[in-house]
Amino acid sequence: LSKKDFMNKKVLVTAGPTVENIDPVRFLSNRSSGRMGYELAREFANRGAEVTLISGPTNLRPPSIVKKIIRIESAEELREKVLEDFEDNDIIVMTAAVSDLRIKNYSEQKLKKDTIVNLEIEKNPDIIKELGRKKRVGQILVGFAAETENLKENAIKKLKEKKMDMIILNDVSRKDIGFEKEENEVTIFTSKEELRLEKNHKRIIANNICDFIFSTFF
Ligand code: PMT
Repeated sequence: LSKKDFMNKKVLVTAGPTVENIDPVRFLSNRSSGRMGYELAREFANRGAEVTLISGPTNLRPPSIVKKIIRIESAEELREKVLEDFEDNDIIVMTAAVSDLRIKNYSEQKLKKDTIVNLEIEKNPDIIKELGRKKRVGQILVGFAAETENLKENAIKKLKEKKMDMIILNDVSRKDIGFEKEENEVTIFTSKEELRLEKNHKRIIANNICDFIFSTFF
């Protein structure tokens, strides 16, 4: 608890999956456990930041040092909450695994087998892209890229197209890191730099990410 790098800074971290309901019993989601985002929220708070953690459903106990925790389920709810808090924050870290798809019409009744094959899906809003357009000078927008192929190329494309200041790439085709696992291995990209963080516990990765953000942007 010695480094107070982020004293007087406000940091918004999103974590976990989103859940898109289909009917009262079914949903679309993904394998995010929330670990990576919770470790980042903890580390920023340890270093003195005032942290808001917006979280999809997870089995984790939120870090006790983080005082403001907002729960969401769908990407649309996440978008609303993020937009409410966005302007207030100096650093925004989108660790949440946002579902790119949602169901067009939620059914109040449990769908029958014959109707469920005709489900209509549509795109969810791209939250970080909207933040990239809205961000003001001095605000730092950090995204993640969960990729399975053309890793670097896809990450850099997202960095540029969504006007992020930094993107953290993880290879989610690997079984030993990424979704759900205790460990991760990532590469950080900015417009100028590239830094690989070797496989380590997500708490250490979060620590290294905070070091990088502080030395790069402050
Ligand atoms: O939760 P864990 O089990 O610890 O796993 C961690 C993790 C693998 C989920 C995490 O490290 C990670 O990679 N999170 C981002 C997952 C993701 O949605 O990646 P993406 O490449 O699909 O999206 C790129 C960026 O855009 C992300 O910052 C995402 O939050 C954001 N996004 C995506 C879609 C969307 N509709 N709106 C968004 O804002």
